[in-house]
Amino acid sequence: MNIESLLEQMTLQEKIGQLVQILPSVYDPQTSDTVTGPVAQLMEESGLTEENRFELGSVIGINQAEQALRIQQNYLKHNRLGIPLLFMADIVHGHRTIYPVPLALASMWDISEMELMARQSAIEAAASGLHVTFSPMVDLVRDARWGRVMESTGEDVWLNGEYAKAFVRGYQTDDLTRSDSLAACVKHFAAYGAAEGGRDYNTVDMSDRELREFYLPAYLKAIEAGARLIMTSFNVVDGVPATASTYLLRQILRNEWQFDGVTISDWSSIKELIQHGVAGSLAEAGEKGIKAGVDIDMMSGAYLNHLEQQIEEHVVSIDLVDEAVRRILILKRDLGLFENPYRGIDPELEKRIHLSKEHRDTARRLAEKSCVLLKNDHILPLAESQRIALIGPFATSTDVLGPWAGSGKQEEAITVRDALDEANIEYVFAEGSTVDAEIDWDQAMEVAKQAEVILLALGEASWMSGEAGSRTDIRLPKTQREGLARLATLGKPIVTVLFNGRPLDLRDVVEHSDAVLEAWYPGTEAGRAIHRLLYGHAIPSGKLTISFPYHVGQLPIRYDALPTGRPMTIEGADPRYTSKYLDAPNEALFPFGYGLSYTHFSYSQLTLCEQSKESIWEASVLVTNEGTLDAEEIVQWYVQDPVADVSRPLRQLKGYERVFVKAGSNREVTFRIDASMLMYQHPDGSVKADAGEFILYAGSDSACTLHETFWLKQTVEKEQFDEHINDRSTSTTR
Ligand code: BGC
Repeated sequence: MNIESLLEQMTLQEKIGQLVQILPSVYDPQTSDTVTGPVAQLMEESGLTEENRFELGSVIGINQAEQALRIQQNYLKHNRLGIPLLFMADIVHGHRTIYPVPLALASMWDISEMELMARQSAIEAAASGLHVTFSPMVDLVRDARWGRVMESTGEDVWLNGEYAKAFVRGYQTDDLTRSDSLAACVKHFAAYGAAEGGRDYNTVDMSDRELREFYLPAYLKAIEAGARLIMTSFNVVDGVPATASTYLLRQILRNEWQFDGVTISDWSSIKELIQHGVAGSLAEAGEKGIKAGVDIDMMSGAYLNHLEQQIEEHVVSIDLVDEAVRRILILKRDLGLFENPYRGIDPELEKRIHLSKEHRDTARRLAEKSCVLLKNDHILPLAESQRIALIGPFATSTDVLGPWAGSGKQEEAITVRDALDEANIEYVFAEGSTVDAEIDWDQAMEVAKQAEVILLALGEASWMSGEAGSRTDIRLPKTQREGLARLATLGKPIVTVLFNGRPLDLRDVVEHSDAVLEAWYPGTEAGRAIHRLLYGHAIPSGKLTISFPYHVGQLPIRYDALPTGRPMTIEGADPRYTSKYLDAPNEALFPFGYGLSYTHFSYSQLTLCEQSKESIWEASVLVTNEGTLDAEEIVQWYVQDPVADVSRPLRQLKGYERVFVKAGSNREVTFRIDASMLMYQHPDGSVKADAGEFILYAGSDSACTLHETFWLKQTVEKEQFDEHINDRSTSTTR
């Protein structure tokens, strides 16, 4: 397909149509739309007419093959130039088979499993006719009050970037024309996860250093991995809404990063420029959007209503429209849509592949790997001979898919009770309460008395997190906390399994439980994964990628904080005048990287050795499995730069490895450090690693203490380093 000659044939209206995204019901009365933003007003304002309906470029919320087929066929009957529609949707952690929510998946610390999840999601979604997924969401988050924390992969800049790449590779493969690939739309650009007070859609304000060092890298990594689209965020950054920010969309994205893919607004975020107070009308909002560089207007009507006139009056240059249309047509071409507008759509395959055994097995394994054991006082794993009282609203709840569950159906999810029945485990049962309704726990108390061990399934309903799911109280709902406290008076061991989308304040849960398993929203195979973990058929290995605060008042909290001038450890200071809370510790209750196993790993013999003159160090540490079960451990490596030109984090994750260690034996784990890991942006804008001392930490979480010092003899500039790497790779390929 020759894109330039196609562009030449297009009328202005047809070009503008390509920049507009609309709901499936516009073409298909049988469809009920999935809606996450304002619509009623929008339809009045959308500028849709019988004629332009068949000139629009993309549809949001397709979820089924027959529907995709109907819509595309009908559309192409009317579209003058035969330009197919693009179908997009939020395939965030699965399409029909639902895998654990992203924050849970991140706890696996397993890039290839993440990629596999994205691959299987794409296979299912492409069979239903989808071309683009609004994923990965790579927003860095340090505030558990923000409901969308469950969609993120956590608080670490480097790890988020690694996951971003895995998602993109899994969705897109290296060949977008494959009928089972999806184009990835990375979101939400930029810094959406830093909303003030953790309140969704709220102001974001931060230094450029913070933005560039912590918040932007994961979007860039997704782009470097080939993500074909990027979505703007709802928030302002430095006073300018991201959707109208030439700094973000032109300077950084296009000029610095050389991104040549498609940009898309978030749902109605062009129109929201009015509410942000930077546009006086929908027309002005649209003008700002297109000038800033937003190619597709998702659901605001601004482009469809006003762009034509703005171009005729030379308020907006036609070149801006042409550029945007060109990028969209290129995407359609690269997806193979001009050759086959029905690419991927396959009702038969859809039946076979959705919830296939292979996908369900993966979902179960990933759920096992993403659960995090937070506490275990010698009670887990359980023995089948132990008499169990199964109690709590999540024992039977199918609300285990999470708030972004694609086309997943709750009735297809396996509950804890289903899985215990399937495994013929005997138990006595009482619900105790619903998630947050105040009912009394008397019946549960009676049931619990009959058992040796209380298995308590508690949590947040999925509506309590996700988009617009911010909360100031991040404890479990009151009725559940009261029930737990009452059950604890029986003096029987309590194993609490938690279903939730955010880090919670778990002080009382930890106090009253003998074991706590964080299961997040584990997806379709929830119950089976939990049963296998509780009974030792699988061993917990997940580790948190976000700190669990001691108290909501500590938020935002991060393991990679900067030092303060008055740390609590300072010698000779009056303790009153150190940096601390009077009523809570500074540290998280469970730090980043934390997670237990049914065995115990110890770390020793950390050594570091510099390789020749190349500023490369080989580190090694001995990891010993002290217990009686073979298990996997996630070995983590952190680096601190104690003296620099700007204050540097107390430590930062630089690498990790998931290793299998047999019971009673040990394993040497190695790690290679190079100068690029020691670089940061200096006040003059240069990126380099300063000569001087560094500290390497190795251990099982971000609070580990085993460390060694090493020295960089000469300052290394980024350009110099990159050239050196390029030279070396060219010489090895020669
Ligand atoms: C969300 C996006 C999502 C979009 C389309 C918005 O409300 O912020 O993450 O991709 O809706 O569903």
